[in-house]
Amino acid sequence: MASPSSAPMRALLVVSSVLATIFFTVAAAGNFYQDVDITWGDGRGKILNNGQLLTLSLDKASGSGFQSKNEYLFGKIDMQLKLVPGNSAGTVTAYYLSSQGPTHDEIDFEFLGNLSGDPYTLHTNVFSQGKGNREQQFKLWFDPTQDFHTYSILWNPQHIIFSVDGRPIRDFKNNEAKGVPFPKNQPMRIYSSLWNADDWATRGGLVKTDWSKAPFVASYRNFNAEACVWSSGTSSCGSNSASPWYNQELDATGRKWLRWAQKNYMIYNYCTDVKRFPQGLPTECRAA
Ligand SMILES: *[C@@H]1O[C@H](CO)[C@@H](O)[C@H](O)[C@H]1NC(C)=O
Repeated sequence: MASPSSAPMRALLVVSSVLATIFFTVAAAGNFYQDVDITWGDGRGKILNNGQLLTLSLDKASGSGFQSKNEYLFGKIDMQLKLVPGNSAGTVTAYYLSSQGPTHDEIDFEFLGNLSGDPYTLHTNVFSQGKGNREQQFKLWFDPTQDFHTYSILWNPQHIIFSVDGRPIRDFKNNEAKGVPFPKNQPMRIYSSLWNADDWATRGGLVKTDWSKAPFVASYRNFNAEACVWSSGTSSCGSNSASPWYNQELDATGRKWLRWAQKNYMIYNYCTDVKRFPQGLPTECRAA
């Protein structure tokens, strides 16, 4: 088509690009073909069922992984995962958001496998401007290998809320007022990988991966992102900043579930690890 030179045509183009910006940001119910790229694993990562299911696998030669096609700056991102069943000791399924570069931001879910019948550990962390060391770990109140469960990250300018099946387990608040950097300027991609970490993952590396049980498989479905998509250097947040998630914080029910999860299922909290921080706990722990 020839380049549009008439004034009406140019006006039409302006209007349609404004519309594209708005529509680009609305919630997209997932199709893995459209939403992610399998980035490594030489065929061990697979998109199945017309884009409705994704599986990663790990064997002695390699793990596998995928990443989102889009980068996001804030969003409410849900994914359902079913983790490696049986003896998954030594395996790690990581599901996280990350930006690029040495002062990157990152929001992590990591699932550390275990012997059959022993509980997975759900590890969480938040990096801002290259600094992490903010681990909180949980057991789960169900067997995460039997069924799909929903793992969500709500990331807006004031909070990063981690939820499992809609129950908040962690709320990392924006404490910039107290000098704690908060991830809010660098767009992040979604990444996931299944890999071998038997040098540290299970009981601190004591239990090794049983390769006779390979291949190990983790499955994903129902990816859903209500998010501000980053494109050509700007966030097209547009109408999203009027969406409820953009200003959401925990309500009374959310606070109740958070207390419940932290009381009954939390197994490590950097904010109470006084031995690790002899000079004093990190500021955000004291501010909370
Ligand atoms: C595995 O199970 C053991 C025994 O219940 C537990 O101590 C450990 O924290 C579990 N998780 C990992 C990742 O080792």
